[in-house]
Amino acid sequence: MVARTLDTDLAWELVLSAVDRSNVTLALPGTDTAAVKLNGHGAWHLIQPATGEAKDLLSIFLPLCRPLPSDGRSKVIGQLGQSLDGRIATVTGRSRFINGDDGITHLHRIRAVSDAVIVGAGTASTDNPRLTVRRTSGRNPVRVVIDRHRRVPDSHFLFTDGEAPTLRLVAGTYEKQDHTAIAPGVTEVPCLGDESSSEPVDPRLILEVLADFGLRKIFVEGGGVTVSSFLNAGLLDRLHVMVAPMIIGSGRPAFSLPEIDFLDDALRPRAQLVNLGSDMLFDLDFSGKQ
Ligand SMILES: NC(=O)c1ccc[n+]([C@@H]2O[C@H](COP(=O)([O-])OP(=O)(O)OC[C@H]3O[C@@H](n4cnc5c(N)ncnc54)[C@H](OP(=O)(O)O)[C@@H]3O)[C@@H](O)[C@H]2O)c1
Repeated sequence: MVARTLDTDLAWELVLSAVDRSNVTLALPGTDTAAVKLNGHGAWHLIQPATGEAKDLLSIFLPLCRPLPSDGRSKVIGQLGQSLDGRIATVTGRSRFINGDDGITHLHRIRAVSDAVIVGAGTASTDNPRLTVRRTSGRNPVRVVIDRHRRVPDSHFLFTDGEAPTLRLVAGTYEKQDHTAIAPGVTEVPCLGDESSSEPVDPRLILEVLADFGLRKIFVEGGGVTVSSFLNAGLLDRLHVMVAPMIIGSGRPAFSLPEIDFLDDALRPRAQLVNLGSDMLFDLDFSGKQ
């Protein structure tokens, strides 16, 4: 058997073949040559040599591919791309592009291993995102927008491009049901309570609704308000913070959490630092704390 050095393209193909699997040996695409061995507990080891970037890619993404827990819990990853001074957009909401090319590709890769990608109404309105996988191979996740007041314009891509189903969570009382399939196009899901309320809905409810649709690998892509509410509720298993070498000096904050007096009360998750090229990734693991 001839050794084949894994580069990032090959490593990414292996990641896609690892989704929802454990305790298996992944083969090089189109061959039966063993490349990576996954054990049942999240550890893995390389059978073929790999470049440093390919190893980084595997170490970031293989944990996201693990099968869901059998207790019915969802797995939730959040992300924010921020400047050195912790801003995700200017005061006028402009965030394109804080992160560089490699950071954006990273974002698309997280989408590709998720069942659903969530954004808040602020992001959906301001950025008019597509939330599809375009910079890498893999399937599009179901798109979810938290839009209690239906303030995201109907003409935005999420509601018109037909590239992937969109769930629009709006005001109303949720009626629990088992959805066998998600219809193409846009499905409105009343579940966010009273339209006149300005209180955020407990994000646990949002996860329960998505689980009823069979969506349990959840990617909370932004913005700061939405990611912070999942973080504050202790619902994030992982958080990817991509830091760009840029100082904005004012603007929208990445994280807004209740005030604390002592640093002992600050969140200090286990962290892996990876140089993505254009951005520095902080891969934060909160799973041990749940
Ligand atoms: N750099 C990055 O990684 C990144 C990523 C995404 C977005 N952005 C930028 O961030 C800005 C938007 O972020 P943002 O923090 O202002 O807003 P956001 O998180 O996108 O949206 C917040 C809004 O979503 C709805 N929402 C979210 N969670 C909710 C809950 N639990 N219950 C009920 N409603 C909920 C509410 O809408 P209502 O107010 O209508 O009730 C809330 O005001 C934009 O400028 C965008 O460009 C940057």
